[in-house]
Amino acid sequence: MEKLHSLSNRITCLSLLFILNLFYPANAEFNSLTRIPFSKGFSPLFGDGNLMRSSDDKSVRLLLSQYTGSGFRSSDLYNHGFFSAKIKLPSEYTAGIVMAFYTTNGDVFEKTHDELDFEFLGNIRGKAWRFQTNVYGNGSTSRGREERYSLWFDPSKEFHRYSILWTTKKIIFYIDEIPIRQIIHNDEMGGDYPSKPMSLYATIWDASDWATSGGKYKVNYKYAPFVAEFTDLVLHGCAVDPLQEIPSPGCSENDDDWPENINYSTLKPRQLVAMKKFRQKYMYYSYCYDTLRYPIPPPECEVDPLERQQFKETGRLKFGKKHHRRHGKRRSQVLNLSKDEERDDI
Ligand SMILES: *[C@@H]1O[C@H](CO)[C@@H](O)[C@H](O)[C@H]1NC(C)=O
Ligand SMILES: *[C@@H]1O[C@H](CO)[C@@H](O)[C@H](O)[C@H]1NC(C)=O
Ligand SMILES: *[C@@H]1O[C@H](CO)[C@@H](O)[C@H](O)[C@H]1NC(C)=O
Repeated sequence: MEKLHSLSNRITCLSLLFILNLFYPANAEFNSLTRIPFSKGFSPLFGDGNLMRSSDDKSVRLLLSQYTGSGFRSSDLYNHGFFSAKIKLPSEYTAGIVMAFYTTNGDVFEKTHDELDFEFLGNIRGKAWRFQTNVYGNGSTSRGREERYSLWFDPSKEFHRYSILWTTKKIIFYIDEIPIRQIIHNDEMGGDYPSKPMSLYATIWDASDWATSGGKYKVNYKYAPFVAEFTDLVLHGCAVDPLQEIPSPGCSENDDDWPENINYSTLKPRQLVAMKKFRQKYMYYSYCYDTLRYPIPPPECEVDPLERQQFKETGRLKFGKKHHRRHGKRRSQVLNLSKDEERDDI
């Protein structure tokens, strides 16, 4: 007994170390990013009364009250870039709430817009926040490219950094320094690859009709106001006039291939491993495995045959998937949630 006990302790320690290593690869580049004061890079989008700036101009809070949500956007459009913020989400009962952090040009190109999304989908008390990423190119709204995931931490407890890297060659979504999704541009994607200048947006709003378990759980204003906090904002890109695509003064000649030459736009082997680990543990829906919707996976999908077996034809994780005991609880939460949701909200 005693021996078994210490052995299992050792295994727990080892696997903890292993996980820490994967999830926190040393990567100093993110620390060197230039933060931009709110008023220098952004302006309110809607619900101005629910947008609260800090006195040092470094942070901003977005509130959802029973009267309105709120949002802000970058004042400029950028032709490619690295967009990032540290964000803390509302806690307690957050069903029906969507907090979105995304780039789009929908207000300039109504019919042919591009978009890259992080969307956090609220949850009932005691259940973990879930989120999705999505990508649209040139108005391809009929071809959603959603993936859904749970998180390895509680995003309402402290700030975490959420980042979107967008270059001519690839798109990477990061949480802290972990890449969680990468889309490599290939010619077959055609207009589905975002290619026109976009602004960065952050919004919080009432999406009672679909956000949590397909609309089963609505926003409960007894817990309002719901507060999302943003700090350490990063807008790293070349600001352009969206229609003329003329770089603003300050963009150098060879900004064309910016930011390909920046370290964090090329994933190191260790980061690729961390990304795979994340996806194995926390992804519970992928359009790439949703063969009911896409009998032939879209061209950017890298279908991993082993991973494929873990998903049903709806793109949802199969029930009863074998998993590491340490993660049993989290996984069963995910499974229960997906059972509730089915596919009506995708
Ligand atoms: C985007 O869509 C418009 C309208 O459908 C089309 O004319 C244009 O060629 C498309 N752009 C790309 C890059 O596919
Ligand atoms: C990339 O990282 C290396 C070492 O970590 C550094 O020497 C180099 O200057 C960085 N390159 C860029 C473009 O930031
Ligand atoms: C998930 O569902 C099972 C059976 O329906 C139940 O026993 C379990 O407690 C649920 N887990 C969570 C985390 O809600």
